[in-house]
Amino acid sequence: MDKQLLKAAYSPEDFRQNGHQLIDLLADHLDKTINKPSSKVINWEIPSEQYKFWNNFLLNGKSSDLNNEILNRSIHLHHPHYMGHQISPVAPVTGLTSLLNAILNNGMGIYEMGMAPTAMERVVVEQLCKEIGYSKKSDGFLTSGGTLANLTALLSARNKRAGNDVWEKGNSKKLVIMVSAEAHYCIDRAARIMGLGKKGIVKIPVNENFALKTEVLEKTYIKIINDGYEVMAIVGSAPSTATGIYDDLDAIGDFALEKGIWFHIDAAHEGGAAGGGFSQVVPMEDINLHFTGDFNAVEKANNLLAALVDNNLQSTDNLNLDPRTIFWKRVIDMNDRALRNITIGLGG
Ligand SMILES: Cc1ncc(COP(=O)(O)O)c(C=O)c1O
Repeated sequence: MDKQLLKAAYSPEDFRQNGHQLIDLLADHLDKTINKPSSKVINWEIPSEQYKFWNNFLLNGKSSDLNNEILNRSIHLHHPHYMGHQISPVAPVTGLTSLLNAILNNGMGIYEMGMAPTAMERVVVEQLCKEIGYSKKSDGFLTSGGTLANLTALLSARNKRAGNDVWEKGNSKKLVIMVSAEAHYCIDRAARIMGLGKKGIVKIPVNENFALKTEVLEKTYIKIINDGYEVMAIVGSAPSTATGIYDDLDAIGDFALEKGIWFHIDAAHEGGAAGGGFSQVVPMEDINLHFTGDFNAVEKANNLLAALVDNNLQSTDNLNLDPRTIFWKRVIDMNDRALRNITIGLGG
């Protein structure tokens, strides 16, 4: 290889200069997109035109135009008119940490290839568990996305069910995952990656609201067993990708408990929304309660506590409680008599 080229590619000074230019370009782009959004979210072009442009540019274009051309030919997530596709507008500071990460390129395969991130992952998981309100025994690790998170969780489910060391001996049982027909396709893919095959994934139909039809669970389960399969897991969506609908996690949880099968909840987009109940969607009264990832758990816990307090107030009140002093940090509207005047939407 040309030695000069190699030297230039690793030149700290070139990096500094190009880096400053790129940061300026991106800062201007953010300013224009966020604060003066007269431009379009996307300059859409048919695939063949894009290909034609890049085929010509990569062979004949000026390298100094590259970043600008990429910007002009990308969808702008920071634009106020950008409406989803689920991918969120990145907080600019994370772009800077991505740069750091890109230059360090620590592979994380072994400890010394990722000392700082390994420790940081542990801290992040601990803090997340604390924020959500999980017990001190909780643990976890970060994955690169929902697909890998689901596969990892379902591998754990299989480990529990398999009865032998699948890593060494392969699948010895005919295992099945039950899931809503509306669930994200990566659950289907996980089943196939685990070698369960097409028959290893049983899709439960949905009701008119696109939530898993819990009333057909028993019938479907019996058929699976009669066909000689064993259910290793059932997956609920919280929410599902296309419609944002929550499955009836309570009913699915009870079913899983009764049958002794692993209950996995796919809530790829809810980690952030769970937020330990601190997240808000405005207008809060109308929609927030139904968009909170831990709604189900909050409801259960709140209803139980409310019932206990309510019973005490209605009967002997030997705790001497003043209802005006009772408040729930994360509250939902509930029916218990003395608590009907609860004020919601105060934020956590
Ligand atoms: C509910 C749900 N599960 C899993 C995934 C897959 O996540 P990823 O694209 O990060 O692998 C998605 C992505 O849209 C999703 O909405």
